[in-house]
Amino acid sequence: MVSPTLPNARPDLADVLRDRRRRLAHRFTGAGAVVLWSGQAPARNFAANRYPFRASSHFLYFAGLPLERAAILLEGDRLELFWDEPTPAATLWHGPAPHRVEIARALGADAAFAYGDLKGRVAALQGAAPDSVATVGLVDPHLRAMQAEILGRPVSPPADGMGVDRELALAIVATRLVHDADAIAQIRHAAAVTVQAHRAGMLITDRATHEVKVRAAIEAVIYQRGAVPAYNSIVTIAGEVLHNERYDNPLLPGDLLLVDAGAEAASGWASDVTRTWPVSGEFSPTQRAVYDVVLAAHDACIAELRAGVEYQKIHLLAAQVLAEGLVELGILRGQPEDLVDCDAHALFFPHGVGHLLGLDVHDMEDLGDLAGYAEGRRRSERFGLGFLRLNRPIPAGAIVTIEPGFYQVPAILEDRDRRDRYAGLVDWERLAEFKDVRGIRIEDDVLVTATGSEVLTADLPVAAEEVAALVRE
Ligand code: GLY
Ligand code: MN
Ligand code: MN
Repeated sequence: MVSPTLPNARPDLADVLRDRRRRLAHRFTGAGAVVLWSGQAPARNFAANRYPFRASSHFLYFAGLPLERAAILLEGDRLELFWDEPTPAATLWHGPAPHRVEIARALGADAAFAYGDLKGRVAALQGAAPDSVATVGLVDPHLRAMQAEILGRPVSPPADGMGVDRELALAIVATRLVHDADAIAQIRHAAAVTVQAHRAGMLITDRATHEVKVRAAIEAVIYQRGAVPAYNSIVTIAGEVLHNERYDNPLLPGDLLLVDAGAEAASGWASDVTRTWPVSGEFSPTQRAVYDVVLAAHDACIAELRAGVEYQKIHLLAAQVLAEGLVELGILRGQPEDLVDCDAHALFFPHGVGHLLGLDVHDMEDLGDLAGYAEGRRRSERFGLGFLRLNRPIPAGAIVTIEPGFYQVPAILEDRDRRDRYAGLVDWERLAEFKDVRGIRIEDDVLVTATGSEVLTADLPVAAEEVAALVRE
């Protein structure tokens, strides 16, 4: 019988993973060993009817393959795999899997054991010092209880790790923040699939009666190319609902359709792209005017990205360009700098301008702000700025999103306190002329380099005329 193929085994995977382990070992010297678990899919209503499995990204980064109910033990650059081959009963339902020895070879493991051997191996390493083996807690509390049982000590949620677990999390952040060539190649692939998927969405819009038809066309491309959505796609005429997950609205001429959808490659690496296009293929004058303001902010931010730049500076640049544009359109009143200082732009741009991208669409946000915020920095209390997810100097090799937007969110614009506070700074009558602009976001994935940046999703048109022309095609 032919052995089933390994999912996503690249020829040089073992070398890539060994290099990652070395980089981690160089940074993390706080404990004798590290154990990382892949996790397992939760059941929907009974054990055999499960949600799709997605391995923990920390496991995937160092183990490369999406093995379920597996753990790796790292000591320096040494890797031991703990994973059970499927039983005959499991094979009956799910088909055969590669042998453990083949998997061990593909990921460059130095040894491979049954999963049940992990506890004894950990105990032997720990001796009387439970803190000599570090881990990252899984998000699912049931799985954390299992981690705690094997480590013989409590395991906190990933964002709250203390002691050696916190030191490990910081070392993982430093390692995963700067992408290696394999990661960049995988994200390029995810980005290429995403670009093709968005094009399919634009091309079908004139025949689509409802949002869901555009979603189906986009996700068909993603699945056909062996990927999955990296997050729940947003395909909506109600663009002011920032993470809208409904798809049942009819598409009418005059609507803007906001599409935030990204592919996750079979290797687990993600992309995250937003375009906003007119259902009819023609922007109205008001839609076009605001689109160009958002695009100016997007372009200005990308032009400023380079190694070492403070990401909060990029966010405030987006705020400044948006404020300038909204003053020119007569929606805001005053000096743009003053409007940004008092957060008036956040009435229309309440979120941060982007985040880290990697194996997770919001990379490493299971660790809270440990990845997004430089040590010692805390979230701002300011309106808008408090939602900034990334506030650190950006090193070369990091990938970030740039995603400014303009939204008319009733919960913000009709809030009595905010209306009073910004009463003189908004021309409400003029704003009413823009009621056909519910939400516009433009989002690309950008690799930061020593001298500037590279937009990995640049093949997808972004200029208003080019986007509209694709919809009309
Ligand atoms: N797709 C989620 C985000 O843009 O952050
Ligand atoms: Mn994003
Ligand atoms: Mn997005």
